[in-house]
Amino acid sequence: MDHQTVSEVLAKQAIGSTVLLKGWVRTFRSNRFIALNDGSTLKTLQVVVDFENTEKETLDKINTGACLAIKGDLVKSQGQGQDVEVHATDIRVLGECDPNVYPLQPKKHSMEFLREIAHLRPRTNTFGAILRIRHALAFAIHQYFNERGFFWMHTPIITGSDAEGAGEMFNVSILDKKNIPLNEDGEVDYKQDFFGKEANLTVSGQLEAELGATALGKVYTFGPTFRAENSNTTRHLAEFWMIEPEVAFADLDDNMDLAEDFLKKVIQYVLQACPDDLQFLADRLANEEKSKPQNERSEMGLIEKLQFVADNNFRRVSYTEAIDILRNSKPNKKKKFQYLIEEWGADLQSEHEKFLVKHFGAPVILFDYPAKIKAFYMRLNEDQKTVRAMDILFPGIGEIVGGSQREERYDILKQKIAEFGIEEESLWWYLETRKFGTCVHSGFGLGFERLVLFVTGMTNIRDVIPFPRTPGSAEF
Ligand code: 4AD
Ligand code: MG
Repeated sequence: MDHQTVSEVLAKQAIGSTVLLKGWVRTFRSNRFIALNDGSTLKTLQVVVDFENTEKETLDKINTGACLAIKGDLVKSQGQGQDVEVHATDIRVLGECDPNVYPLQPKKHSMEFLREIAHLRPRTNTFGAILRIRHALAFAIHQYFNERGFFWMHTPIITGSDAEGAGEMFNVSILDKKNIPLNEDGEVDYKQDFFGKEANLTVSGQLEAELGATALGKVYTFGPTFRAENSNTTRHLAEFWMIEPEVAFADLDDNMDLAEDFLKKVIQYVLQACPDDLQFLADRLANEEKSKPQNERSEMGLIEKLQFVADNNFRRVSYTEAIDILRNSKPNKKKKFQYLIEEWGADLQSEHEKFLVKHFGAPVILFDYPAKIKAFYMRLNEDQKTVRAMDILFPGIGEIVGGSQREERYDILKQKIAEFGIEEESLWWYLETRKFGTCVHSGFGLGFERLVLFVTGMTNIRDVIPFPRTPGSAEF
């Protein structure tokens, strides 16, 4: 007999049928009631043990964390808290678990502690819910693009170009660390390395996605990206997943429309696909809010907040307008910002982004940033000062999306590359797309974990990826 998942059994409610379940014990009460979870759903299934007809040796092994195979009859539950339960006829212990040393006890553990046992934390309600929601979001993203004629493009993870300039890169090398070969200039001789040149882990698939868009029209990437920035914050990972659509014949307005519609649709998808997990996380968040001072509590619950974002227009605000708002804001005048906004051209910090989102009471799309604080490939505006960049700022998160219309004019792009001090040879292939049938095109990058952070209401990005990589930490 094939086993069924708890999720299937609860959905079918086939009272009177015999079921075979396999899962892990969450709790075992009164030598009689097992709460069995198999990860297919947040819910546990109550299994009633016939303790008089069960061997003592088996009973002794039914502990929190133990893995069991249970055969039994599905019946209407007499007790409260569940509609159905399983009356066990046969219990087999597949994997024992010593309750005296099992780190996951049926009680509340801190997020910090759970990070130390990331190999076991998927077995908790919170992380089970997060991982299921993470999957649903990834699925919704692929579905969204597939339905709109985008092609998923697999851009390289090992890259020979540092074109993006998005941050420090992780070097990929097989050179002998104890005996690194040097060239005549005394620098590392990458000619002797695996690829015959310096290679790194990619910080973004964008430049290669542009090559795809100028051939297939609409493409997107969805893969891991790596940044060796030493930013030990609740919003940064050294390894994170990014989604980067790139669209030919789309200008910045089209790009903003796409990003807004995309975010709303994937949020709508989880709202309907993951009601139990979201409700669990909403309750968890509401509980946490209670311990905060009144003025720091958020006005909306998690599900309300998601619904709000899905239903309401994002506010589109130019960088110049945003700088005026920030300059005249209370925290700026009272010197409450860590970085005071003094003049046009200032780079925005997370504190400013959060202020703007609060100010508008909605997600904000900032556009037309100063060329100096953005990447070389963004299209220069007529004013020669700003570029067609856009960032989307979300409540509680700050920047969730960064994108732009790309500079498609060969001469201007060449000049920008020089101004940014980038070696033109390293980008010869990128420049050629501007030489051979160039076209207007745009795209953006969504940080997947920042989206999961927003949707789950968690506060630390380390808690929305199974095994976080951050400075000083690469366990598991
Ligand atoms: O703004 P970024 O650096 O943009 C790019 O990489 C462009 N190539 C995207 C494009 O136009 N195709 O990064 C995009 C997003 C950010 O908005 C943020 O959500 C996320 O990636 N991100 C990070 N997420 C987690 N940890 C980090 N260290 C991140 N750095 C960026
Ligand atoms: Mg950015």
